[in-house]
Amino acid sequence: MNLHNGTLIFAHRGASGTHPENTMTSFEKAYEVGSEGIELDVHLTKDGEVVVLHDEKVDRTTDGTGFVQDKTEKEMKQLDAGVWFSQKYKGEKIPTLQEVLEWISNKSMRLNIELKNDLIPYKGLEEKVIQMVHNYGLSDSVILSSFNHYSLVKVNQISGEIKTAVLTTDILYQPWHYVKSLGASALHCSRSYALSNMVAEAQKYIPVRAFTINDETEMKELLAKRLSALMTDFPERAIKVRSSL
Ligand code: G3P
Ligand code: CA
Repeated sequence: MNLHNGTLIFAHRGASGTHPENTMTSFEKAYEVGSEGIELDVHLTKDGEVVVLHDEKVDRTTDGTGFVQDKTEKEMKQLDAGVWFSQKYKGEKIPTLQEVLEWISNKSMRLNIELKNDLIPYKGLEEKVIQMVHNYGLSDSVILSSFNHYSLVKVNQISGEIKTAVLTTDILYQPWHYVKSLGASALHCSRSYALSNMVAEAQKYIPVRAFTINDETEMKELLAKRLSALMTDFPERAIKVRSSL
């Protein structure tokens, strides 16, 4: 058993500091180093497949160009999602959410699926994701988050079972009122809020998970504050820091 102070380590886009973000190799690395959770981002293709990558366009993290919403799953699968990061990862593919759910279904890891529907409000994304999570029996270990808070309300209306988290970079006054008013269960906040002296009070009312914490000194500070989770691109580093306390 992994003994620690209660703060879980979530690998942000997998172990994305050392591996190409949002790929199976970055998720496997996160698992291998002992992360308790993985955070990833999802979009919807032209033919309705839920795929895992961060941006609305494929340009930054693949060898292709254009919007995800204009491509089919088959076209997405032809792209290389590893070589932009390093030649070592040439051939890495964009995973579908289904592939990740299949992979994680026999592991006791949390999965934070960020619905990337704040810039493009993909029609039917919530329903598809919820259905898949239910099909894999993962409702208890999945957290759905989004910067699109209307989408979280929709998730809560469709499925009372899957937990949702309000994702924001805003500094909210007494955020637990807002979080609860949406039917969400947690706050996913930015570094600046997490490092402020406001976070301790919020953590008394709702679980607070902070992103993206890569610096060791900040990790120590937030571990001491006993936040519910730290999301980091360097899960191995965070786990080492946590076990040194
Ligand atoms: O879910 C936390 C964090 O991932 C939100 O920001 O841009 O890294 O998806 P971003
Ligand atoms: Ca994200």
